[in-house]
Amino acid sequence: MANATTQAPKREAFGSRNVFILSAIGSAVGLGNIWRFPYVAYEGGGGAFLIPYLCALLTAGIPLLFFDYAIGHRFRGSAPLAFRRIHRAAEPLGWWQVLICVVISVYYAVIIAWAAMYTWFSAQLTWGPGNENDFFFVDFLKSADVAAVGVSTEFVPQVGVPLIIVWLVVIGIMALGVKRGIGRANMILMPLLTVMFAILVVQSLFLPGAMDGLNAFFKPNWEALADPAVWASAYGHIFFSLSVAFGIMVTYSSYLKRKTDLTGSGLVVAFANSGFEILAGIGVFAALGFMAQAQGTEVAGVASSGIGLAFIAFPTIVSNAAGGSIIGVLFFGALVFAGVTSLISILEVIVAALQDKLGWGRIRTTLVVSVPLALVSMALFSTTTALSVLDTADAFVNAFGIMAVALVAVIVVAWMLHKLPALQEHLNRRSSFGVGPIWKICVGVLGPIVLGYLLVSEIIAKTSAPYGDYPAWFLAIFGWGMVISLVILALVVSVLPWSGRSHAKDDPEYDEFLVDESYDADPETGTIDAQVPSEKGARA
Ligand code: ALA
Repeated sequence: MANATTQAPKREAFGSRNVFILSAIGSAVGLGNIWRFPYVAYEGGGGAFLIPYLCALLTAGIPLLFFDYAIGHRFRGSAPLAFRRIHRAAEPLGWWQVLICVVISVYYAVIIAWAAMYTWFSAQLTWGPGNENDFFFVDFLKSADVAAVGVSTEFVPQVGVPLIIVWLVVIGIMALGVKRGIGRANMILMPLLTVMFAILVVQSLFLPGAMDGLNAFFKPNWEALADPAVWASAYGHIFFSLSVAFGIMVTYSSYLKRKTDLTGSGLVVAFANSGFEILAGIGVFAALGFMAQAQGTEVAGVASSGIGLAFIAFPTIVSNAAGGSIIGVLFFGALVFAGVTSLISILEVIVAALQDKLGWGRIRTTLVVSVPLALVSMALFSTTTALSVLDTADAFVNAFGIMAVALVAVIVVAWMLHKLPALQEHLNRRSSFGVGPIWKICVGVLGPIVLGYLLVSEIIAKTSAPYGDYPAWFLAIFGWGMVISLVILALVVSVLPWSGRSHAKDDPEYDEFLVDESYDADPETGTIDAQVPSEKGARA
């Protein structure tokens, strides 16, 4: 075990709390908000879905957001380092989150690349009226059936080239670091995204038929509330949407200054994310109302799921609406901006973890992380079977990655290590409002019950019928094999030696933090409320 003591590079920081808030909103507002939420909400009972959605937000989303903030800010580390500082045996939880980010980043970049191409196509109306479906699957993706061709290696240049560009852009941002790269990118892209989205929503509301779309979206179907699957989808959605439980908020909050209002910032982020999501629902359904009217059909007949909604329904609207090109450019441009600000936060989880573990500099770590990821992303997703791989990886990593790690993390931290009181104390030190027993109940009791239920129902659903009707060998590799290997790899990486900051003593800033905050901490790991006499004075 190396003892890098004072050699570890100084930990990076956001320029201010506002930049942190903007970056956390940038991470939360992503592809999930724009094309996932409207459909999830519609399918889950329209207006009535707002009830499970708000319950999920208040009982799981916000409490776990605070949980992530408390861990990242209190233990001032990337996910593996922060969990290691809670307890040495908890380090694999951090690596599990890092590896989840590895999987998400490789497919997330692909959807951004598609959206970038569709921004361009919208300006030209490339697909031709009536041909949107075939254009997407046949002309653009050159989609092939995995059952027939296996996993293809045939390169599709119109996907591969924008994908390279997306990777170059995010590598550039990441290489500049937290303050100059991530902070600045969010300062520029988030206001642009907000303006573009506001114009898009207003323009959609003026389309003929918009009100039919809104009626379909908001008309409550109360019966849906009796269906446990609706509640499950609300909880499942909120984790991905808020970027909680996969290391992002732990990492970002570790870059916050010591004296900061954590709970106040968390509420701003959570409500901005939900506001954006609901606005996206209004904009998307107003546009779908127009499409239904133009085709003389019901809104229910044109509302399709995620990828179909963005890349087939929206192009159809673009073809038919007056000023359609503008709607298309705004919609796909917003997807690109929202996607990029989320992708950099996903990559930051990986970069920060390796920087901490290996003690490497920013540029070297960025390149060592991003170039292989870009190559994997190119190899798997710029081919003719990209859509099937993406669909499977996304479904499995959400269910058995994010939700599973969230469940294990709350059980370990709350029940096995009994750290909730210490995290609560940390949250309450500087925040504008304190969290009390309700927070502990949400994280420690409700959280495990809901997550456990969701996980079991996902296991039953995915074992009782082959997901997406894909062949068993395909699901064994890109579904089950992928999620199981994340856990095994996390355990393996945890036993590899640290040459960066592994202890409080390797990190003078962290040490100083403990002194200033008068924590009784284990001098080795920085573990709080450990039964050791305070050695802060001696170490200062
Ligand atoms: N929170 C991000 C999204 O919604 C990952 O897409």
